[in-house]
Amino acid sequence: MSNAHNIQETIKTMQKLTGKTALITGGNSGIGLATAKLFREHGARLIITGRDKTSLAQARSVLGDDVLAIQSDAGKLADIESLMQQTQKQFGQLDILFVNAGIAQAAPFEFVSEEQFDDMVTIDFKGAFFTIQKALPLLTKNASIIVTTSITNQMGSPNMSVYGACKAALRSLVQTLGLELIGRGIRINAISPGPIATPIFGRFGLPDEVQQAIKAEITHKSPIKRFGAPEEVAKAALFLASDDSSYIVGDEIVVDGGMSLL
Ligand SMILES: NC(=O)c1ccc[n+]([C@@H]2O[C@H](COP(=O)([O-])OP(=O)(O)OC[C@H]3O[C@@H](n4cnc5c(N)ncnc54)[C@H](OP(=O)(O)O)[C@@H]3O)[C@@H](O)[C@H]2O)c1
Repeated sequence: MSNAHNIQETIKTMQKLTGKTALITGGNSGIGLATAKLFREHGARLIITGRDKTSLAQARSVLGDDVLAIQSDAGKLADIESLMQQTQKQFGQLDILFVNAGIAQAAPFEFVSEEQFDDMVTIDFKGAFFTIQKALPLLTKNASIIVTTSITNQMGSPNMSVYGACKAALRSLVQTLGLELIGRGIRINAISPGPIATPIFGRFGLPDEVQQAIKAEITHKSPIKRFGAPEEVAKAALFLASDDSSYIVGDEIVVDGGMSLL
C-alpha cells in the first residue's frame, strides 16, 4: 500500500464526522461559517442557511460546490419547512443540527421598540424552536442538536433585555428537550459564547464610535483580555456534534474566556 494511501486512511480515521450530514443555520457568517469549515474538515456533508444571498454564495465557494447553501429566513415557518424539504430531498436525513442563526440589537430597556422586540423573539427564539421541531422527522437515531445561546442568558447584561431573555428561553428549551428527545437517542446541548469577534457587533444598530467603545470596554473587562475567535466556538460545536460527547445531554458549554465568572 502506498504512503499517500496510508496518509489518506489516517486522515479519515482522525475525522470525527465522516459520513454525517449537518445542517447549520446562519452558516454564512461568524460562528456558523467557522463551524461549517471545521465540520467539513472532519468529513461532514453540509447544508448552510442565511438570508443574504451574496455571503451564502461566498461561503459555498469556500466550503465546496457540494455544500447546499439555502437562502432561508429562520423567522419564517414556510422557509423552515421548505428548508427541511430541500434537505430531505438532497440528503434524506440529518445527523447534526446546529441551530445558530441569530440577531442582537442593543437598546436601553425604556427605548426597546415593539419592532426590535418582535424581530429578536421571532428569529432568536421562535425561529430556533420551529427549526428544531420541523427538523425532527429528519433526525437520525443518535443525532446531535446544538443550539447557540449566549452568556447574556445568565449574566445581567444592560441594554440586552430582549436578546438575553430569548437566549434564556433557549437554554430552558434545551433542558426540556434534553429529556423529551433522549428517548429517541437524540442529544441536544447548547453552546454559550461570550464576546466573539464576528460581524454581529456591526449589526447592533449602534454608531461606529459607540461600537468601538463597547468593544474596548469588553476587552478591558474580560478576564482573558481579548475577544474569542469564532474558530474557538466551532471546536466546542465539533465536540458536541461528535460521539466524543455521547454522554452529555441538555447541558451548555460556556466559551467565554471567563467573562461569566465576573
Ligand atoms: N458574537 C458573539 O459575541 C456572540 C455571543 C453570544 C452568542 N452569539 C450567537 O451566535 C450566533 C451566531 O452569531 P455570530 O456572532 O456568528 O454573528 P453573525 O456573524 O452576525 O452571524 C449571524 C448569522 O445568523 C444569520 N441570521 C440572522 N438572522 C437570520 C434569519 N432571520 N434567518 C436566517 N439566518 C439568519 C446570519 O445570516 P444572514 O445575515 O444572511 O441572515 C448570520 O449567518 C447567534 O445566535 C448569536 O446570538 C454570538
